[in-house]
Amino acid sequence: MAVTSSSERGSWNSKLGFILAAAGSAVGLGNIWGFPTKVATEGGAAYLIIYLLCTFLIGFPVMVAELSIGRKSGKNPVGAFKALSSNKFFPLVGLWGVICGVVILSFYTVIAGWAFGYAFEEIFYFLGWDSAAAWLTDTGNGPKNALIASVFMFGTIKIITGGVSDGIEKATKTMMPLLIGIIVIMIGYVLTQPGASEGVKEYLLPDFSRINAGLIFSAMGQAFFSLSLGMGALITYGSYLSKKENIPQAAALVTLADVGIAFLAGLMIIPAMYVAQAAGIEIFVGDQLASSTDLVFQILPALFHTIGGVLGLVLGVVFFLLLSIAALTSTISLLEVPVAYVIDEHNVPRKKAAWGVGLGILVISIIVSFYPSLIGTFDNIFNNLGLPIGGLLMCIFVAFVWKTDSALSEMELGFEGVKQTLFAKVWPVFIWIICPAAIAYNIISNFL
Ligand code: TRP
Repeated sequence: MAVTSSSERGSWNSKLGFILAAAGSAVGLGNIWGFPTKVATEGGAAYLIIYLLCTFLIGFPVMVAELSIGRKSGKNPVGAFKALSSNKFFPLVGLWGVICGVVILSFYTVIAGWAFGYAFEEIFYFLGWDSAAAWLTDTGNGPKNALIASVFMFGTIKIITGGVSDGIEKATKTMMPLLIGIIVIMIGYVLTQPGASEGVKEYLLPDFSRINAGLIFSAMGQAFFSLSLGMGALITYGSYLSKKENIPQAAALVTLADVGIAFLAGLMIIPAMYVAQAAGIEIFVGDQLASSTDLVFQILPALFHTIGGVLGLVLGVVFFLLLSIAALTSTISLLEVPVAYVIDEHNVPRKKAAWGVGLGILVISIIVSFYPSLIGTFDNIFNNLGLPIGGLLMCIFVAFVWKTDSALSEMELGFEGVKQTLFAKVWPVFIWIICPAAIAYNIISNFL
């Protein structure tokens, strides 16, 4: 986006540019930290199956809806609802999205800081600087967490103040294939180690008796989080999208890239847990996991350390740097939402908006840095509950206020003949009834 002032709204440089930016937003800690952690703690292969169903049956249709709202209105989430109807309630849905984004970003930067720190941990470990390495691995160290989270937030603000598109588009284009490459190498390595087959079974052979309302609720929240849905990030990104683009196709590509990387990350990390256990690292206490929020951050370095030597060092450093870049392309989308809101609705110049909002969120990040147990609480309220509720209300908006037919007319601009396709018959049914009913049912049964 060549956005420089509040008066001119930017656009993505190219078709691929948008897909890369949206995929960059989707692929992040959610795929490599959130997803494997939840598979490990909540139900193995049974969780994987429910997650895939939520992604394709609920997430994908909602993504198409968000992008259509964004492109039609050309606005931030609050402005978008104002632009498309005179209803007074829906702009509050946009505002709720902005709030979810603010809180999610506040803990996201702390976890991103862990990932970034581990790139250096690998170096210190290699050099034998054990106490420096140990300092970086202590995820409970408040001042350290706050320091690295601040570095991360400054980086995000800096990018948001300038032109977003060049940076994100370029970073994503080289990062994604590399990240996939390293994950595939690591999968190859892990699967040949003792203990791995136990993990593969856990990941791919479902025990359906583990499915319950809590698991479905968590998998649905994870699907929204991983696709960056439910808070208007894709309304905002859609607002920079050219009228020539094919929305359903772009949404499908982004969904597939996101799910593909999450699936591979699980195939690397779940077996690695069992390999680590077979090697004597304490992963389970009884049949409970020894830790959850920082599980992935214990398993991965252990893996790189057992590979050892220069190869272990290079793989470890490159992996954590790539993960940090993946997290950065996600924090950019999280910060862009409240910033676009302040620019559009309160007429603040971009630079001022980015610094004001970013530093405000950094204050919450610093609190989270000292109390990392807040991550679980925030994750539950603003991610597992907040995002699906946002998605539910967006479906209701498109179904009954703006109308699915208007959305299809918007899609028609870049996808000629869409109204004659099967998609145009099926997608509205999802938006009218299947998605809202499934989301509402899952939320209610979780609380009962
Ligand atoms: N999808 C990102 C991830 O998986 C996180 C993220 C970025 C996000 N933007 C978002 C989550 C907007 C919810 C809403 O890491």
